[in-house]
Amino acid sequence: MDKVQLEERVKELNQLLHDTGYAYYVLDQPLVPDAVYDQYLKELIGIETEFPDLIFADSPTQRVGGMILQGFQKVTHTFPMLSLSNAFGREDLDDFDRRIRASIGDDFSYVCELKIDGLAISLSYENGLFVRGATRGDGRVGEDITENLKTIRSIPLRLKKPITLEVRGEAYMPKKSFLTLNEQRMANEEEKFANPRNAAAGSLRQLDPKIAASRNLSIFVYAIGGDGEAYQLDSHGQALDYLDDLGFQTNKERQTCHSIDEVQAYIEKWTTERPNLPYEIDGIVIKVNRYLHQQELGFTAKSPRWATAYKFPAEEVVTKLLNIELTVGRTGVLTPTAILEPVLVAGTTVGRASLHNEDLIREKDIRIGDTVIIRKAGDIIPEVVAVVIAERKEELPAFEMPTHCPVCESELIRIEGEVALRCVNPQCPAQITEGIIHFVSRNAMNIDGLGEKVVEQLFREGLIKDVSDLFTLTKEQLIQLERMGDKSATNLVAAIEASKLNSMERVLFGLGIRHVGEKAAKILSEEFGDMKQLAEATPEQLIAIHEIGGKMADSVVSYFDTDEVRELIGKLESLGVNLTYTGKKVDLSNLNHVLTGKTVVLTGKLEQLTRQEAKEKIEQLGGTIAGSVSKKTDIVIAGEDAGSKLEKAKTLGIPVWDEERLIEELK
Ligand code: IVH
Repeated sequence: MDKVQLEERVKELNQLLHDTGYAYYVLDQPLVPDAVYDQYLKELIGIETEFPDLIFADSPTQRVGGMILQGFQKVTHTFPMLSLSNAFGREDLDDFDRRIRASIGDDFSYVCELKIDGLAISLSYENGLFVRGATRGDGRVGEDITENLKTIRSIPLRLKKPITLEVRGEAYMPKKSFLTLNEQRMANEEEKFANPRNAAAGSLRQLDPKIAASRNLSIFVYAIGGDGEAYQLDSHGQALDYLDDLGFQTNKERQTCHSIDEVQAYIEKWTTERPNLPYEIDGIVIKVNRYLHQQELGFTAKSPRWATAYKFPAEEVVTKLLNIELTVGRTGVLTPTAILEPVLVAGTTVGRASLHNEDLIREKDIRIGDTVIIRKAGDIIPEVVAVVIAERKEELPAFEMPTHCPVCESELIRIEGEVALRCVNPQCPAQITEGIIHFVSRNAMNIDGLGEKVVEQLFREGLIKDVSDLFTLTKEQLIQLERMGDKSATNLVAAIEASKLNSMERVLFGLGIRHVGEKAAKILSEEFGDMKQLAEATPEQLIAIHEIGGKMADSVVSYFDTDEVRELIGKLESLGVNLTYTGKKVDLSNLNHVLTGKTVVLTGKLEQLTRQEAKEKIEQLGGTIAGSVSKKTDIVIAGEDAGSKLEKAKTLGIPVWDEERLIEELK
């Protein structure tokens, strides 16, 4: 073949591979056996290797993931990527419907779609070629993840028409791929992903596109960015059909509805069918169909008035409460945990749920042997919702807290004004192990590979008595432990060694001094620069620091005022643990997020995130968490039952976000 013929053949192969790939990945109707596809691909790779100038941008070989990136470039979306308002029940839906009717009358229809639980993506095409793909980011600016997106087979690299457009969709990981991936990760001793959404997001945020390529991701596109009318379309329904014609994968379960009752029926149908879908959905999206109507309805600051997202309530299941286990924490507080007959909830098997404290057990009248309803708060943390009293066939004794510590048997104390019962024996083995677990945890020394089980074993075997002993552990000692391989032991020794370089605030927080949280540890470290200086500080010096109160000052002084603690600090120092503040601050220069540089106050009860998670995420994006609302506050995040801080924010005219908004912005 001469070069002209070769070029012809390459084009032909590209076309064949596109067509067969489209049939397989988008239509789910394979045209040819896999072996034939592989044959075409092999031939193409052969020619491309010999003549790299014949590699076209849309060649299927460009999907496999080539270069490792240094970082992701920022992309400003041509049209902002908005989020949707939420509806949680029939009442919210009726309100939504009423508002629409008040604005555009009764002659309109809705399109209902599944709300795919993945991450929002924008895809840009120029003259039919895929040129850029980006994450949502803050809605205005996202990250360029083109190379990763190219590895998704259901994203066409070339459209069936040579047009320029931007489309929006949801990238996701099918349930089956998620399960396989987690099995692999478990086998490799890697942390499992909590759900397919995190797995998809984690895969697309990898700098090495080969990782995304190996993850079997897919996408459903659900809208044209900007003005659909520019493509001679006059409704959302038409736009979806048009996207199909261009070669995209849209979700076929969509349905036109002419009343809110029909919408409700669609919701009910998918609430039942949801477990049978091969991908996760977290709700139903309801959109007014015609563009003309959408334009009349317009937008609020953050979302269109013509659409809303109905969110499924958390899945609730019934199981038996087998026992109530009591654990002693690092500060001696007793926490009851429900031991449940294992049951599948929202994708994982649940066998335990925290009961928080005695009051909660009493309030909900939870008794061992009861049938209980459980769910996962925010789809992650298992909790007992209520007891099914009708199922309590025989009289069960009310649960009583013990009078003595279940671990060291010393008498339990209830400190005045506190709900919790406490073991106050400083030698209590449970408190010591929990203290060590805290010391190695992510927000403290962050020692990878030192999980709770390993710490417990080390303590039981007498290999560690306090945190300083961690730094004398040898590989030979670690290998003796159950389920500790050669590789894990080597890695663990290296991780312990590396942790010696941590800045002072991590060590200080890790010591677990009462009232000294992460933030206080940072302030104290910045202020004193060195653990020895801090150990010598007087209450007056401490109180003089802004944000350090009397209670904390007393706690710090009395902590360092014992021989054991002085000895411990001396040991840590002689073992080479850094005890000075090396001041590693978050590098703000790379960040460009709505929360970057902002002072944020969290108030009220968050449902889906813990405070700690919210705080960490905001700080990672370069935001600062403040304790009280002032003129300097940029954003107040108000959870349920927010009180005076929310009031103050309103008075000062400070923007207030609910938890949903925060989660949207963090996505
Ligand atoms: S329409 C103007 N349709 O849900 C907003 N969104 O807040 C257009 N999502 O993260 C969004 N499935 O990525 C729309 N069928 C669907 C969707 C969907 C999932 C996600 C979207 C965004 C969130 C909406």
